[in-house]
Amino acid sequence: MKTIVINASPRKKWNTAEVMQAAQKGAESVGAEVEYVNLYDLVFKGCRSCLVCKMKEKPKCKCYWKDELSPLIERILEADTLLIGSPIYFGEPTSEFRALIERLIFCVMSYDDGSSYYTGKVNVGIFYTMNAPIDYYKQSMEESLSSIEFLFSFLNGEIRTYPVCDTLQVHDYSKYNMAGFSQEMKEKQLILQYPKDIENAFKIGAELSKE
Ligand SMILES: Cc1cc2nc3c(=O)[nH]c(=O)nc-3n(C[C@H](O)[C@H](O)[C@H](O)COP(=O)(O)O)c2cc1C
Repeated sequence: MKTIVINASPRKKWNTAEVMQAAQKGAESVGAEVEYVNLYDLVFKGCRSCLVCKMKEKPKCKCYWKDELSPLIERILEADTLLIGSPIYFGEPTSEFRALIERLIFCVMSYDDGSSYYTGKVNVGIFYTMNAPIDYYKQSMEESLSSIEFLFSFLNGEIRTYPVCDTLQVHDYSKYNMAGFSQEMKEKQLILQYPKDIENAFKIGAELSKE
């Protein structure tokens, strides 16, 4: 079993990275071969609308644009599981996360009838980290983020979404203009909830990467 773990945060050692490293350990615990990718290390942009993937004579399920993302797309489509995490920026996953989705899903989507050309199966675990508390996530974000699940459904596998809420954005809030947040509340969350989130990320990584 092959699992690809992607950190779609620009920060390589913060919340999303920690969550994805836990998911990675979960995948490894069931014997999966794991590749960990910091998406922001790759040089790429979103879909360039070259439409080569839609040409009749071209093999399907391939992004033909030559840059550092296309080989990763190939590896995702050969994998059994994709575990991807992103911070929420203005209610959405990061622009790099979206750019990856544009490229990955457009090349498997049929423009004839909207079906998926992809005949394999990739399970997908999606992890979001955010400032928002869980109640706000459920009321205002969960439904709109289901559009991301719809796009990943083109990969034919099981899809799980896990929100990690109320994350610590900086170590010392007193040094920043961030009066909207309470250091005390953030630290409480860090002690009471965050370890559970890390444990759940491990479990989801393991469950989605099992034979
Ligand atoms: C540009 C920007 C926009 C953000 N927008 C939101 C937002 O709309 N909702 C939210 O809950 N958190 C928002 N955040 C906070 C991040 O989602 C949160 O701190 C996240 O856990 C950061 O992940 P990281 O530690 O892996 O970088 C934003 C942060 C940045 C830098």
